[in-house]
Amino acid sequence: MLLAKLRRASDVCLFGRRRWPNVAARRRGRFRAHGVLATAGHICHHFTQTLGNWRPERWRIPITAIEGEFVTLKVGYIIGSLSASSINRTLAKAIVRLAPAELDLEEIRIAELPVYNRDFDADYPPEGTALKEAIASVDAVLFITPEYNRDIPGSLKNAIDWASRPWGTNSFDRKPSAVIGTSPGKIGTAVAQQNLRGILSYCNAPQMSAPEAYIQFTPGLINDDGEVADASTEQFLRDFIDEFSRFITRALTVLPR
Ligand code: FNR
Repeated sequence: MLLAKLRRASDVCLFGRRRWPNVAARRRGRFRAHGVLATAGHICHHFTQTLGNWRPERWRIPITAIEGEFVTLKVGYIIGSLSASSINRTLAKAIVRLAPAELDLEEIRIAELPVYNRDFDADYPPEGTALKEAIASVDAVLFITPEYNRDIPGSLKNAIDWASRPWGTNSFDRKPSAVIGTSPGKIGTAVAQQNLRGILSYCNAPQMSAPEAYIQFTPGLINDDGEVADASTEQFLRDFIDEFSRFITRALTVLPR
């Protein structure tokens, strides 16, 4: 438990020092990291364990706090359904509830977009510009989508087309992304998600490839407040969004935007 805490603290500490452009600009909150001396503590612990009758707790070096900063990652989520009673919107509420503290999730709305036509490219309407600005303002995008006729809904494809244009200003370029979706059927949007992954590849959006998340929505699984009734599903969703947080960190570290 303590080691896990310390490792996490030193991870964040290193992460905080990298100072890549758009993430460093939005740091907030303070925390105490225990990086260097935690490592010394590990060594001391190992040493005393090896010698047997020495009591590790007597020899462990006291942890000294190093001032650090906590990084918040902004994630925009796009819901593929426009339905007022969308189960994918319900899933989104659960994900927002379960997300780790370092993720700041906000919806990027697509309902107001007109149908894309490339004639708009010369003079983008405010809805198209607003979408592109919303995507530009986040560190990553999470797609939460239903499956319509074994593909993503037209509304979502329309939004992606808007965001990808005008040519040369593709909003998804190098934008970390992940995909999840729910349907009442057993394959839980798997086919739609595979097709969406192909589109995101073309748009050069780095994607979290695992875990995949095909959620079969059964009555009462998630309530209107986003509370998940089934413990294993809740844990799965928590793991999914935790992993996305780590993926964003890795993607932005390797490939700063
Ligand atoms: C569907 N539905 C559906 N489900 C599925 O698993 N695979 C599919 O290919 C389709 N196709 C499909 C087409 C159309 C036009 C509709 C309206 C519905 C059922 C779908 O999963 C169900 O309506 C979900 O409730 C849709 O998600 P939202 O809108 O509630 O988030």
